[in-house]
Amino acid sequence: MTQPVQISFTETAADRLATHEGRAALILGADGKLPGRLPRALREAVTRALGSKAGKALKPGQALELAFPAGLRVETLLLVNLPAGASVLDARRAGAAIGARLGGQHMLVMAGAHKRAGDIALGLALRGYDFDAYRSKRDDDENGAPLQPRVTFMVKDPESLAKSAADAAALAEGVFFTRDLVNEPANVLTTTDFADRLLAMRELGLEVEVIEEKKLAKLGMRALLAVGQGSESPSRVVVMRWNGAGDQAPLALVGKGVVFDSGGISIKPAAGMEEMTMDMGGAGVVAGVMRTLALRRAKANVVGLVGLVENMPDGRAQRPGDIVKSMKGDTIEVINTDAEGRLVLADVLWYAQQEYKPAAVIDLATLTGAVIIALGHENAGVFANDDALADSILAAARAEGEGAWRLPLGPSYDSLIKSRLADMKNTGGRAAGSITAAQFLQRFIAEGQPWAHIDIAGVTLPPSATDLAPKGATGWGVMTLDRLIRDRFESK
Ligand code: BES
Ligand code: MN
Ligand code: ZN
Repeated sequence: MTQPVQISFTETAADRLATHEGRAALILGADGKLPGRLPRALREAVTRALGSKAGKALKPGQALELAFPAGLRVETLLLVNLPAGASVLDARRAGAAIGARLGGQHMLVMAGAHKRAGDIALGLALRGYDFDAYRSKRDDDENGAPLQPRVTFMVKDPESLAKSAADAAALAEGVFFTRDLVNEPANVLTTTDFADRLLAMRELGLEVEVIEEKKLAKLGMRALLAVGQGSESPSRVVVMRWNGAGDQAPLALVGKGVVFDSGGISIKPAAGMEEMTMDMGGAGVVAGVMRTLALRRAKANVVGLVGLVENMPDGRAQRPGDIVKSMKGDTIEVINTDAEGRLVLADVLWYAQQEYKPAAVIDLATLTGAVIIALGHENAGVFANDDALADSILAAARAEGEGAWRLPLGPSYDSLIKSRLADMKNTGGRAAGSITAAQFLQRFIAEGQPWAHIDIAGVTLPPSATDLAPKGATGWGVMTLDRLIRDRFESK
């Protein structure tokens, strides 16, 4: 997997800046004061840069780049504006400004006594992500080895920072795991390849179980199996368990893992279909969170379940008009084979509740194009039958700077998924498309079970770079769920 850049923390030695080769960044803390011993020519250049129009316009978390600065050996010196009292999110943005400009070189960050140095480092690591598995022309160093950027932070208290940096590294690794899974093409990340990558997390102390088609059929998961029956890749459900809190009822995380969504017989138009390699994004987030929990040895019980299928057109594929019976026993008329995610989730949600009696269930899915129409790429759509659970998800998302917005459920939407022949149909027409999808999922939530559904179709693979991610997969949700688990499901 893509590894976060290596970051080490050492004590400040002001003269290191003069001899450092590669790149460097100065964190301008309180009132833009410069650290002591800068060569005079440099001090002048920096003062001029900060006094310029661009320098004065620098907001907290933004950086200005000086090329080949006088008196230094570095190629570029980044001047990063971050007042001493800056917020956690501004500190991560400041780090991201540095992470976006690593250029495969050794970056020296002069952070002094800034108390948000840990968050600067996290932002730097997250924005420094680069998925280069399929680029045959990578940048090599003079010995022909792939360039491994390195980062050295000069700070006041390196020991105490290194400790908190371990939790941040666990988080970054979880986010990177999710991003890699989402960025992988579907000819590589097949259902079985995905399951193998999850099985490999046994090394980290996770319990991982892969349920194959024969057992899925025995369990009665015919809605899930129907989605995968047109594919050469067999369907799988993978269960990952992290038991860090004795015999407490677990939090269950459920993810939609459609490794490719062609639409099936209700095939999608060609334009943009290549993006449907990201339709396993929900499963990717669940996997990334489980990885982070294991790496930081969280004191929480969490079970992650993912439904891995591929939705393809084929002689054996399900047809519009087919009626399938779910594990719960309810029958579903398949109006449109492209509304497949809810069929997969229906069975995995039911299984999660039956098997693990969870304290709460949260599912994540790239479920509807309609949520992009409603919220764009800024916010995920949050649905819940429990206000306290919804509020804590929204609070966690706000704290981590990931956009989330609550949308309604309600019995009045049920009439839109009424079927003439079966207990329900799988689409509700154009109106309120994200809500009818959520309403469909709620049919598979037992009475009294706290549950939330997060539609991440808009935030998983947005069309341009975000604050903390280059263009491509964001890993949206790993930070929010890790925060939620820390705040609500973890014993201190
Ligand atoms: N995977 C798609 C939703 C999607 C769209 C995700 C765009 C990411 C970006 C989902 O399976 C789907 O096809 N939904 C249909 C539902 C419709 C047929 C009721 C949609 O949104 O059009
Ligand atoms: Mn679809
Ligand atoms: Zn889909």
